[in-house]
Amino acid sequence: MSSPNLLFSDNEADVSQAAKTYGITTAQFEALLSRSTDAKATAYCPYSQFRVGATILTEDGAFVDGANVENAAYPVGTCAERVAFGKAVTGGHRKFKAVAVATDISPPASPCGMCRQFIREFCDLKTPIFMFDKDGAFIVMRLEQLLPLSFGPEALPPPGSLTAARG
Ligand code: THU
Repeated sequence: MSSPNLLFSDNEADVSQAAKTYGITTAQFEALLSRSTDAKATAYCPYSQFRVGATILTEDGAFVDGANVENAAYPVGTCAERVAFGKAVTGGHRKFKAVAVATDISPPASPCGMCRQFIREFCDLKTPIFMFDKDGAFIVMRLEQLLPLSFGPEALPPPGSLTAARG
């Protein structure tokens, strides 16, 4: 069931409240909305016809966009979020302030499990993930809410230490 109480509209009051709560400016919020919405047009999704746009706000204020890229061998296709993070990381970015995902449905779609884990590699648990529906209404949750008790890079002991301990 959808959770209508979680769904905010893109009116001025909700936008400024969300921006304040999640530590970004209203201009950055508006850019996340418009860029992730526009990024849907770049999706390659001939099999599902389900367009997804993603935009990441980097710590230094840059935006990186992505969209889903499908494949005739269906499982090989890649989600918008992982395309965007791949671009951002290979572009030299390592710290991020917010993630946005836009689709053509309502209520909004949320990142799949694999993408949540992919995001976990690079984002603080407090990072907000804005999920926009077809009209710009949104749900926002922090990464730790979308992926509780998550496994991240800091859980891994230094390479070699486990084999050393095993003898
Ligand atoms: N998709 C995304 O790009 N992101 C998500 O978080 C959910 C699903 C894509 C994958 C596939 O191309 C299409 O949406 C249908 O599942």
